Amino acid sequence: MPEFDLAIRGGTVATASDTFPAEIGIRDGRVVAVAERVADAARTIDARGLLVLPGGIDSHVHIAQASGPGIVMADDFASATRAAAAGGNTMVMPFALQPRGASLREATHAYRAKAEGQCHVDVAIHLIVSDPTPAVLGQELPALIAEGYTSFKVFMTYDDLVLNDRQILDVFDLARREGARVMVHAEGYDAIRYMTEKLERAGTTRPYGHALSRPASVEREAAHRAISHAELVDLPIVIVHVSGRDAMEQIAWAQARGLKIHAETCPQYLTLTADDMKGIGDADPMAGARYVCSPPPRDADNQEAIWSGIRRGIFDVVSSDHCPFRYDDPQGKLNPRGKTSFRWVPNGIPGIETRLPILFSEGVSKGRISLQRFVALTATNHARLYGLYPRKGSIAPGFDADITLWDPNRRETIRQENLHHGSDYTPWEGFSVTGWPVMTIARGEVIAEEGRILSRPGRGAVIRRAVDPDGRPPA
Ligand code: URP
Ligand code: ZN
Ligand code: ZN
Repeated sequence: MPEFDLAIRGGTVATASDTFPAEIGIRDGRVVAVAERVADAARTIDARGLLVLPGGIDSHVHIAQASGPGIVMADDFASATRAAAAGGNTMVMPFALQPRGASLREATHAYRAKAEGQCHVDVAIHLIVSDPTPAVLGQELPALIAEGYTSFKVFMTYDDLVLNDRQILDVFDLARREGARVMVHAEGYDAIRYMTEKLERAGTTRPYGHALSRPASVEREAAHRAISHAELVDLPIVIVHVSGRDAMEQIAWAQARGLKIHAETCPQYLTLTADDMKGIGDADPMAGARYVCSPPPRDADNQEAIWSGIRRGIFDVVSSDHCPFRYDDPQGKLNPRGKTSFRWVPNGIPGIETRLPILFSEGVSKGRISLQRFVALTATNHARLYGLYPRKGSIAPGFDADITLWDPNRRETIRQENLHHGSDYTPWEGFSVTGWPVMTIARGEVIAEEGRILSRPGRGAVIRRAVDPDGRPPA
C-alpha cells in the first residue's frame, strides 16, 4: 500500500517566505510531507521545470449577486469556480448581499444554498451589510459570525448599499466586539452623485463619464474617513480595490501611525486606465462600458504608484474583484438604461481567471516583485486576513493540498475564447503574459489541467471560519 495518495516530484516549491526544490506527499487531501524525497504514492505528478505554488485564493469576487432591476450577473457558482480553477485558484470568497429592508440572515442562508453542490473550488462567504438595523447588529450578525461568516463588507457609495458614518461606526463597533473582519469600499457617495448630475447636465453620458464622476479625490476622502472611523473604534480594517496614489497615500499614512489598515488592489489598477472607457472611435459609442468598474482604473502614473505600494508592503492582497456582466446583453452592460447614461452601466469586470497570470507576468516576470511576494499577495495573505490560515494559503504539513503547478516561462495571450467564465468578453483580450498555470490541485485532486476542467460542481465545499477563540479582532 503506497504511503501517499499523490506525490509531486521534481518541482520548485515557493511559499511566501522561501523557494526550494522539494517533493510533496499528499494523503486524504492534505499535505503530509515536504522533503527532498517522499515515499511511494498511488499517483505521481512530474513537476520538473515547474513552480509548485499554494493554490490561488481570491478573497474578493462577486458571484450570482443581485445587481439591480433587469441586470443579471454573468456567473453562477459553477461557472465562476470553474474559471477560478482554470486560472490556478483553489479558493474564492464571494459576498452574500443583504438587500435593504431584508433579513441579512435569510439572505446569507439563501446565498449559501445557491452555492451548495455547485462549486468546483472551496468557497468561503463574506457578507455585505446594507441595512444595519438594531436586529441585524444585535442578533443576526453575531449569530452569523458564530456560524462562520466572519467577514463583511460595508459600502460608502451606491444608492442601495451606502451606509452613513454613524452606521459605519456601529458596524465597526460590532465587528470589534465579535472579532470579525470588515472590508470597506471607500468612495464618497455624495461627491459621486454631485459629479454624476453635473456631468449629465453637461451632456456627458458615455462610459468615460464614469471615470470623470469618480476622480481620485472621491476615493481619497472616503479612505481617510474610513481610516478615521477605524481609529476611533480601534478596529483593523481592509480597504479594498485601491485604485491609485491618493487613496494609497492615506493608507500609508495610517500604517506609519501604527494603525492596522490593510489594503487590497486588483490587476485592473496595474494594467488598465480610464482611457479604456473611451472605447475606440465612434464605431461603438458604448464599447468602453466593458471597462466600467469602481473605483475606475486611472493612469500610468497611478499604476506605477500601486506597484511601488506593493513593493513597499502597503498592500496585503491582490484580488480580482471579479464582477462579471455580459457586454452585448440587455441584462448586462448594454441594458436599456445603461445605453442612456454611464450612471446605469453595471459596475464590474470579469477577472477571476486572469488575475494570477497578469500579476505573475507583470510582477514576477518583469522583475517588479519577488516570487515570494507573489505567493503572499495571491494566497497566503488572503488566508491570514480572512481566518483560513493555517488550513489554506501555504504548502506545509497539515495544510490542505491546494496547489498550482506553474510554468514560469510559458508565453500565452489572453483570449476570451479560451476562458471559462460566463461573461462574453475579457478586458484583457490580446494581453500577452509570461507565466501560466498548467495544473490546479485542490485538496489533493487534480481539478484543472491545461485549461481543461476535470472536477465537477459540488467538489468544492462551502467553508465556515472561526473567529479568534479569545474574541480578539483580527490583527
Ligand atoms: O465595480 C465594481 N468593483 N463592482 C463590484 C462591486 C464592488 O464594489 O466591489
Ligand atoms: Zn467595492
Ligand atoms: Zn467587489
